[in-house]
Amino acid sequence: MKKITIAIDGYSSTGKSTVAKQLAEYLDYIYVDTGAMYRAISLYALQSEILSTNKFDKKALLDTLPNIDIAFIKKDIKSKPEMFLNGTNVETEIRTMYVSDFVSSVAAIPEVRRKLVAIQQQMGLEKGIVMDGRDIGTVVFPKAELKIFMNAKAEVRANRRYKELLEKGEDVTYAAILKNVQDRDLMDTTREDSPLVKAQDAIEIDNSEINQEDQFHIILQLTKDRIAGRV
Ligand code: DC
Repeated sequence: MKKITIAIDGYSSTGKSTVAKQLAEYLDYIYVDTGAMYRAISLYALQSEILSTNKFDKKALLDTLPNIDIAFIKKDIKSKPEMFLNGTNVETEIRTMYVSDFVSSVAAIPEVRRKLVAIQQQMGLEKGIVMDGRDIGTVVFPKAELKIFMNAKAEVRANRRYKELLEKGEDVTYAAILKNVQDRDLMDTTREDSPLVKAQDAIEIDNSEINQEDQFHIILQLTKDRIAGRV
């Protein structure tokens, strides 16, 4: 069967990665969560004290950028890929609020984006890939056969993220998460380099009132149509 490239972009906590993973599993495609890559670089900057609440030494980050190694590694063929930063598994740590609060400032740096976009494009050379992020349909794979742009009301997204983090045992408040979601929306859509925008040829889905299963079937149908060349 013909393999295509599927780009899933959208606002934070819209469930991009959930549907991207479902699709990749169903189609036996590679799944890449590009947010994890920006999160790993941010974690590196925080750990090495290049970045903190009061300071961001961008030059130090750029100087050390070539030495930051990030890789998705699977424990075995069946398990999901996990993010490794310079050889250490950071899959859990990169999802904490501590990292979420800083990631948009790191993702705004053009040199960081250039490094990660090059890796992402390399991963997609053979197609058969589902990639989620903010600039996949606009910058990474502008020729992707299927582009989805996901949105939902900020309160709905914050509530989903709140439940997720509570389940993981994080000590968070709904108000702090809503603020993080809104701050990231603003930074991601207004940054100069590759801001979050819907690609002209992307299909927009607002999932404020669509459940995960229905959403999966909507996107799967779109995928099948593209593979068959029906649209
Ligand atoms: O998808 P996520 O919430 O894990 O992404 C974390 C941050 O990384 C997000 O606030 C913006 C940034 N990001 C980006 O700028 N470009 C991407 N392709 C993916 C994520």
